[in-house]
Amino acid sequence: MAHPGGTVTTQGDGAPSPEEVATLLRAGASAPSSHNSQPWRLRWHEGSIEVHGDPDRLLSAADPDGRELRLACGAALTNVRLAVRAQGRRAHVALMPDPDDPWFLGRVRPGAALPPSGWEIELAAAVARRHTDRHAFDHRPLSASLRDQLARAAWRERCRLVVVDDPAQRRALRELTAEAHRQQRADPAFVAEWERWIGHAARTEDGLPAADARREPRGDAAWRPRDFGAAVEDAERGSRRDGAATDEPTIAVLVSYDDTGLAHVRAGEAMQHVLLTATARGVGTSFVAPPLEVAPVRARVRALLGGVLWPQVILRLGWGRAVHPTPRRHDPGA
Ligand SMILES: Cc1cc2nc3c(=O)[nH]c(=O)nc-3n(C[C@H](O)[C@H](O)[C@H](O)COP(=O)(O)O)c2cc1C
Repeated sequence: MAHPGGTVTTQGDGAPSPEEVATLLRAGASAPSSHNSQPWRLRWHEGSIEVHGDPDRLLSAADPDGRELRLACGAALTNVRLAVRAQGRRAHVALMPDPDDPWFLGRVRPGAALPPSGWEIELAAAVARRHTDRHAFDHRPLSASLRDQLARAAWRERCRLVVVDDPAQRRALRELTAEAHRQQRADPAFVAEWERWIGHAARTEDGLPAADARREPRGDAAWRPRDFGAAVEDAERGSRRDGAATDEPTIAVLVSYDDTGLAHVRAGEAMQHVLLTATARGVGTSFVAPPLEVAPVRARVRALLGGVLWPQVILRLGWGRAVHPTPRRHDPGA
């Protein structure tokens, strides 16, 4: 599934056809996930798309509590919901519907016909175009109205997006990023897990295939300590010749009001709503994951932001460029 996502149609009447169900599953499977671990099982069952977290795909060193797994599954739920809307049906969402099954993270049931709004169609179309953009971003800031749109995307999913503008706060967050990265590189379990997913010869449908991977972290990029695209490096060598290429991203932290499993799924929905809004507006996005993966560092990030809300995702945003897609499993239900 090299080009995940699906075409946008607006039929709506009756139950989804097998082709429409396949489109919904493809949309779910194109969600982002840490190490491209795709930690979900997606299936069509009793008239709903179900999203189950897959414990076999849990990153036990980077994500021992499964927080990032739930973020990824929340993102898959947003994609499915938008794809249902783009097919012209109501989307009925239930999060964590079975109190006895903590891995059953959500389902989306297509309902009665309801035409999508223009904006829902744009967001659904962005599902297949969204890719993590690890290029250096230049100085051009995001406009106030764009920042407002991104903030509203988070707010509509009951989260908040905090843009880190204050120079002292930015510096502190960069230092915490470096600190977390240092700790992870010194942890043999983390490094072994990384090497199983990134650039491993056996990986073709998940992780980062060897042809695209760059195992050693880049030394020159404070906000991208463990980004791993060889193709990106080549492109940047080119752009440096043109005089661009210091990385001056907008940094935004998605925060939630709670830190429960359910809050993580919601934060994943919000993350994806923000990412798709950015994509629809031509803004590139990538993740600054390390500081939220090392628990004591995450506590310091939380304190830095006032100590009340819970940081779930740190995003790097800037004016994007075309990005190479990553692979997906052929069968996201397996
Ligand atoms: C919670 C989370 C953390 C991530 N952390 C990193 C990271 O540290 N470095 C990186 O290069 N990509 C990171 N990613 C991006 C994934 O590698 C990417 O989503 C995956 O490879 C699929 O590619 P795509 O986003 O282009 O579809 C992260 C994604 C998520 C959802």
